[in-house]
Amino acid sequence: MQVAPSILSADFGILAQEVKAICDGGCDLVHVDVMDGHFVPNLTIGPVVVSAVAKAATKPLDIHLMVENNSFFVDLFAPLNPKYISFHIEEEKHPHRLIQKIRSLGISPAITLNPHTPPEAIEFLIEDLDMVLLMSVNPGFGGQKFIPNVLERARRLKEIIKKRNPNCLIEVDGGVNDKNIQALKDAGVDIVVAGS
Ligand code: DX5
Ligand code: ZN
Repeated sequence: MQVAPSILSADFGILAQEVKAICDGGCDLVHVDVMDGHFVPNLTIGPVVVSAVAKAATKPLDIHLMVENNSFFVDLFAPLNPKYISFHIEEEKHPHRLIQKIRSLGISPAITLNPHTPPEAIEFLIEDLDMVLLMSVNPGFGGQKFIPNVLERARRLKEIIKKRNPNCLIEVDGGVNDKNIQALKDAGVDIVVAGS
């Protein structure tokens, strides 16, 4: 499995050192949580701070948008050359168009599903995606309790992926720890995010 530490749990007073530490420690991706105070009840960082993260990182960025106006935020972060940009399906009227836009910018498109959203909601988008991010907490904060329905959602998503685009990866975000990581692997999860 790949591991994507979330910098939401970093000490932002020494952010560059924190990013270097996870990269030197062997992470696969640097997970960046972008919250706008509208889609979720929390506000985090914009392109000024994320460009400092990109400068310190020796591993690719995995940008998780938790925002309204996805397309606007894609334009803000695309110049930082992330590997992935994921957006929430619950907040997007034209997901197929946005996927095409992200890919045309040379970035791997990904869609995120909240804990209540079934994987079937994106069945007809799977062939255009490089990754699906399943939330195992309600987005907005680090340090929350793992919601176990993600295991069934991952298994169902894996079946759709096998049929429609076997190259598409499954990432899980929220409350991941040493107690549930084996079950996630058994459910077909490829990448885990871990903050706290
Ligand atoms: C929550 C974020 C997560 C968060 C995970 O909205 O998307 O990436 O940082 O943190 P932990 O591992 O503490 O649940
Ligand atoms: Zn996240």
